[in-house]
Amino acid sequence: MSSRLPCATSGLASAELVVRTAGPEETRALGRALGARLFPGSVVALRGPLGSGKTCLVQGLAEGLGVGPELPVSPSFILVAEYQGRLPLYHLDLYRLKQRSEVDELGYREYLYGEGVAVVEWADRVPEILPEARLEVALEFAGGDARTVVLVGTGERYAGLLEGLTWR
Ligand SMILES: Nc1ncnc2c1ncn2[C@@H]1O[C@H](COP(=O)(O)OP(=O)(O)OP(=O)(O)O)[C@@H](O)[C@H]1O
Ligand SMILES: [Mg+2]
Repeated sequence: MSSRLPCATSGLASAELVVRTAGPEETRALGRALGARLFPGSVVALRGPLGSGKTCLVQGLAEGLGVGPELPVSPSFILVAEYQGRLPLYHLDLYRLKQRSEVDELGYREYLYGEGVAVVEWADRVPEILPEARLEVALEFAGGDARTVVLVGTGERYAGLLEGLTWR
Protein backbone atom coordinates (compact mmCIF):
# COMPACT_ATOMS: atom_id res chain seq x y z
CA MET A 1 0.00 0.00 0.00
CA SER A 2 1.51 3.37 -0.89
CA SER A 3 0.87 6.52 1.11
CA ARG A 4 0.61 9.94 -0.44
CA LEU A 5 1.72 13.26 1.00
CA PRO A 6 2.94 16.54 -0.47
CA CYS A 7 6.74 16.72 -0.45
CA ALA A 8 7.77 18.91 2.51
CA THR A 9 10.45 20.84 0.63
CA SER A 10 9.12 21.18 -2.91
CA GLY A 11 5.36 20.93 -2.42
CA LEU A 12 5.29 18.39 -5.28
CA ALA A 13 2.98 15.39 -4.96
CA SER A 14 4.78 12.46 -3.45
CA ALA A 15 4.05 8.85 -2.58
CA GLU A 16 5.96 6.31 -0.55
CA LEU A 17 5.90 2.55 -0.72
CA VAL A 18 7.88 0.25 1.56
CA VAL A 19 8.28 -3.39 0.57
CA ARG A 20 10.33 -6.35 1.66
CA THR A 21 11.88 -8.70 -0.87
CA ALA A 22 12.83 -12.21 0.24
CA GLY A 23 15.56 -12.77 -2.36
CA PRO A 24 17.07 -11.56 -5.64
CA GLU A 25 14.19 -12.91 -7.75
CA GLU A 26 11.74 -10.74 -5.86
CA THR A 27 13.90 -7.64 -6.15
CA ARG A 28 14.14 -8.30 -9.86
CA ALA A 29 10.38 -8.75 -10.10
CA LEU A 30 9.89 -5.42 -8.34
CA GLY A 31 12.26 -3.87 -10.89
CA ARG A 32 10.29 -5.45 -13.75
CA ALA A 33 7.02 -4.00 -12.48
CA LEU A 34 8.60 -0.55 -12.21
CA GLY A 35 10.28 -0.82 -15.61
CA ALA A 36 6.94 -1.62 -17.24
CA ARG A 37 5.55 1.66 -15.84
CA LEU A 38 8.43 4.02 -16.61
CA PHE A 39 7.88 6.80 -19.12
CA PRO A 40 10.13 8.90 -21.39
CA GLY A 41 12.41 11.10 -19.31
CA SER A 42 12.09 8.97 -16.14
CA VAL A 43 14.82 9.19 -13.52
CA VAL A 44 15.32 6.47 -10.92
CA ALA A 45 17.87 7.19 -8.18
CA LEU A 46 19.17 4.16 -6.28
CA ARG A 47 20.80 4.12 -2.85
CA GLY A 48 21.95 1.32 -0.63
CA PRO A 49 25.17 -0.28 0.60
CA LEU A 50 27.46 -2.50 -1.48
CA GLY A 51 25.70 -5.70 -2.45
CA SER A 52 22.27 -4.53 -1.32
CA GLY A 53 20.74 -5.32 -4.71
CA LYS A 54 20.81 -2.11 -6.75
CA THR A 55 22.07 -3.79 -9.93
CA CYS A 56 19.64 -6.66 -9.37
CA LEU A 57 16.78 -4.15 -9.36
CA VAL A 58 18.21 -2.47 -12.48
CA GLN A 59 18.20 -5.82 -14.28
CA GLY A 60 14.51 -6.26 -13.56
CA LEU A 61 13.85 -2.69 -14.56
CA ALA A 62 15.60 -3.33 -17.88
CA GLU A 63 13.47 -6.43 -18.43
CA GLY A 64 10.35 -4.40 -17.70
CA LEU A 65 11.47 -1.97 -20.39
CA GLY A 66 11.93 -4.80 -22.86
CA VAL A 67 15.74 -4.74 -22.88
CA GLY A 68 17.34 -8.06 -23.73
CA PRO A 69 18.94 -10.49 -24.03
CA GLU A 70 21.93 -8.52 -22.69
CA LEU A 71 21.02 -7.07 -19.29
CA PRO A 72 22.86 -4.47 -17.21
CA VAL A 73 25.80 -5.70 -15.15
CA SER A 74 27.98 -4.04 -12.53
CA PRO A 75 30.31 -1.94 -14.66
CA SER A 76 33.99 -2.45 -13.80
CA PHE A 77 35.04 1.12 -14.43
CA ILE A 78 32.67 2.84 -16.82
CA LEU A 79 30.16 5.27 -15.40
CA VAL A 80 27.36 4.82 -17.91
CA ALA A 81 26.08 2.03 -20.14
CA GLU A 82 23.24 2.29 -22.65
CA TYR A 83 20.62 -0.31 -23.49
CA GLN A 84 17.70 -0.26 -25.88
CA GLY A 85 14.23 -1.37 -24.87
CA ARG A 86 10.90 0.29 -25.65
CA LEU A 87 12.82 3.38 -24.46
CA PRO A 88 16.58 3.93 -24.25
CA LEU A 89 17.91 2.93 -20.82
CA TYR A 90 20.94 4.68 -19.34
CA HIS A 91 22.49 2.84 -16.43
CA LEU A 92 24.77 5.14 -14.47
CA ASP A 93 26.89 3.70 -11.69
CA LEU A 94 28.66 6.41 -9.74
CA TYR A 95 30.46 4.15 -7.26
CA ARG A 96 33.82 4.90 -8.83
CA LEU A 97 33.19 8.60 -9.20
CA LYS A 98 36.24 10.43 -7.84
CA GLN A 99 35.32 14.00 -8.49
CA ARG A 100 32.33 16.00 -9.54
CA SER A 101 33.99 17.02 -12.85
CA GLU A 102 33.68 13.41 -14.03
CA VAL A 103 29.88 13.59 -14.18
CA ASP A 104 30.13 16.89 -16.00
CA GLU A 105 32.48 15.30 -18.56
CA LEU A 106 30.09 12.40 -18.85
CA GLY A 107 27.44 14.80 -20.14
CA TYR A 108 24.95 13.67 -17.52
CA ARG A 109 22.28 16.11 -18.74
CA GLU A 110 21.76 14.03 -21.86
CA TYR A 111 20.90 11.05 -19.66
CA LEU A 112 19.03 12.67 -16.80
CA TYR A 113 17.15 15.33 -18.73
CA GLY A 114 16.57 13.52 -22.03
CA GLU A 115 13.83 11.31 -23.41
CA GLY A 116 15.13 7.97 -22.23
CA VAL A 117 15.10 6.34 -18.79
CA ALA A 118 18.04 7.05 -16.48
CA VAL A 119 18.75 4.78 -13.54
CA VAL A 120 21.52 5.91 -11.24
CA GLU A 121 23.34 3.71 -8.70
CA TRP A 122 24.99 5.65 -5.85
CA ALA A 123 22.84 8.63 -6.81
CA ASP A 124 23.40 10.09 -3.33
CA ARG A 125 27.00 10.92 -4.31
CA VAL A 126 25.85 13.80 -6.51
CA PRO A 127 22.32 14.66 -5.40
CA GLU A 128 22.56 18.09 -6.98
CA ILE A 129 22.53 16.71 -10.52
CA LEU A 130 19.18 14.95 -10.02
CA PRO A 131 15.86 16.48 -11.07
CA GLU A 132 13.48 17.16 -8.19
CA ALA A 133 10.79 14.94 -9.69
CA ARG A 134 12.12 11.40 -9.62
CA LEU A 135 11.76 7.95 -8.17
CA GLU A 136 14.09 7.30 -5.22
CA VAL A 137 14.73 3.69 -4.29
CA ALA A 138 16.67 2.85 -1.13
CA LEU A 139 17.65 -0.76 -0.43
CA GLU A 140 18.64 -1.98 3.01
CA PHE A 141 19.75 -5.36 4.33
CA ALA A 142 16.99 -6.98 6.38
CA GLY A 143 18.62 -10.24 7.49
CA GLY A 144 19.83 -13.04 5.20
CA ASP A 145 18.56 -12.55 1.69
CA ALA A 146 15.80 -10.17 2.72
CA ARG A 147 15.90 -6.52 1.73
CA THR A 148 13.75 -3.60 2.76
CA VAL A 149 13.06 -1.42 -0.25
CA VAL A 150 11.80 2.11 0.32
CA LEU A 151 10.40 3.76 -2.80
CA VAL A 152 9.56 7.46 -2.86
CA GLY A 153 8.02 8.98 -5.96
CA THR A 154 8.21 12.76 -6.06
CA GLY A 155 6.13 14.54 -8.68
CA GLU A 156 2.71 13.54 -9.97
CA ARG A 157 3.89 10.97 -12.48
CA TYR A 158 6.26 9.21 -10.08
CA ALA A 159 3.71 9.21 -7.27
CA GLY A 160 1.18 7.70 -9.70
CA LEU A 161 3.69 5.07 -10.72
CA LEU A 162 3.77 3.67 -7.18
CA GLU A 163 0.03 3.67 -6.69
CA GLY A 164 -1.50 0.31 -7.44
CA LEU A 165 1.90 -1.18 -8.24
CA THR A 166 1.58 -4.96 -8.28
CA TRP A 167 4.74 -6.98 -8.52
CA ARG A 168 4.09 -10.39 -6.92
N1 LIG B 1 16.56 -9.71 -1.70
C1 LIG B 1 17.63 -9.55 -2.52
N2 LIG B 1 17.60 -8.58 -3.45
C2 LIG B 1 18.65 -8.38 -4.26
N3 LIG B 1 19.79 -9.08 -4.23
C3 LIG B 1 19.88 -10.04 -3.32
C4 LIG B 1 18.81 -10.33 -2.43
N4 LIG B 1 19.18 -11.36 -1.63
C5 LIG B 1 20.41 -11.70 -2.01
N5 LIG B 1 20.86 -10.93 -3.01
C6 LIG B 1 22.19 -11.03 -3.63
O1 LIG B 1 22.90 -9.85 -3.29
C7 LIG B 1 23.71 -9.44 -4.38
C8 LIG B 1 23.28 -8.08 -4.83
O2 LIG B 1 24.20 -7.66 -5.78
P1 LIG B 1 24.02 -6.33 -6.63
O3 LIG B 1 25.17 -6.29 -7.58
O4 LIG B 1 22.65 -6.25 -7.19
O5 LIG B 1 24.20 -5.23 -5.48
P2 LIG B 1 24.53 -3.69 -5.66
O6 LIG B 1 23.75 -2.97 -4.63
O7 LIG B 1 24.35 -3.29 -7.08
O8 LIG B 1 26.07 -3.65 -5.29
P3 LIG B 1 27.14 -2.52 -5.66
O9 LIG B 1 27.05 -1.50 -4.57
O10 LIG B 1 28.43 -3.25 -5.64
O11 LIG B 1 26.80 -1.96 -7.00
C9 LIG B 1 23.53 -10.49 -5.47
O12 LIG B 1 24.54 -11.45 -5.36
C10 LIG B 1 22.17 -11.08 -5.15
O13 LIG B 1 22.04 -12.42 -5.59
MG1 LIG C 1 25.59 -2.37 -8.46
